[in-house]
Amino acid sequence: MNGNFLESVVVRVLADNQVMFGTPYVGQHGVSILVTACRQGSELNVLVDTGGDGDAVLRNMGLMGVNPRVVDVIVLTHRHKDHTGGLFKVLEAVGRENLPIIAHPDIMKPNISLEPHVRYIGVPADFGKRVAGLGGTLILTRDPLELMPGLTTTGEVKRFRPMRRHEFKTLTEDFRMVDDEMMDDTSLIALLRDGLVLITGCSHSGITNIVRHSVELTKVGKVKAIVGGLHLVKAPEDEIAEIVEELTQHEIEAIFAGHCTGFKAQAELSKRYGDKFTPLQAGMKLIFK
Ligand SMILES: [Fe+2]
Ligand SMILES: [Fe+2]
Repeated sequence: MNGNFLESVVVRVLADNQVMFGTPYVGQHGVSILVTACRQGSELNVLVDTGGDGDAVLRNMGLMGVNPRVVDVIVLTHRHKDHTGGLFKVLEAVGRENLPIIAHPDIMKPNISLEPHVRYIGVPADFGKRVAGLGGTLILTRDPLELMPGLTTTGEVKRFRPMRRHEFKTLTEDFRMVDDEMMDDTSLIALLRDGLVLITGCSHSGITNIVRHSVELTKVGKVKAIVGGLHLVKAPEDEIAEIVEELTQHEIEAIFAGHCTGFKAQAELSKRYGDKFTPLQAGMKLIFK
């Protein structure tokens, strides 16, 4: 990707568990972020995740003055329904034929949470069929996919550090219930002249792994911003401290973390990063150049 920079990236937060103070946006448990990448007069609108509630995503999109028909590509960061559940409603509103929907092949794997009781939280069994019926074309790959020069998915994230805890189960081909490594967890990387902007879903592959993987992939060491969920909501304090410490080893200009980051991790990030940390909220519009 070296040499292929974007001139600007506009990030609009369409879904998050929190909303901006004094605004009409609606919150939900989920993530949806519209990324508008600009380079040499051309623009690509990439919708990263679709929340769990598509109506809420579309309402916020309307309040932000964005027509859903501008969406060129959808990237699904992983299979959890708070990121994929809004897809069908969004596809109807986008109304485009052969709309590319990029995800890791494991997005089709079952995913089960046993807390606080057994729940299926992956995509429905007829997912592929419904997507195709609404004009979407699934592009399932483990590899990083360049959407335009300067904008790429991470592909499968290298696990420099193994997952500390397993919160979800999956099924093997012979129907064994095993820990789910969430290998589908993918992020989006925007490359600007002086650094990267990382858009994450839940960071199930570990935020420090995502940062290291993105730096290796792009050969750019500086991170201008991390925007998304960091999935530390159930992490014990020592794990949060360790991860935040590891993050500070990297050159990171700003962190906008919400959704599944959790209050304790947000408090720790706020303590360590000061004004460089902002809780993610629906309705935010961030411009990076
Ligand atoms: Fe999530
Ligand atoms: Fe998730």
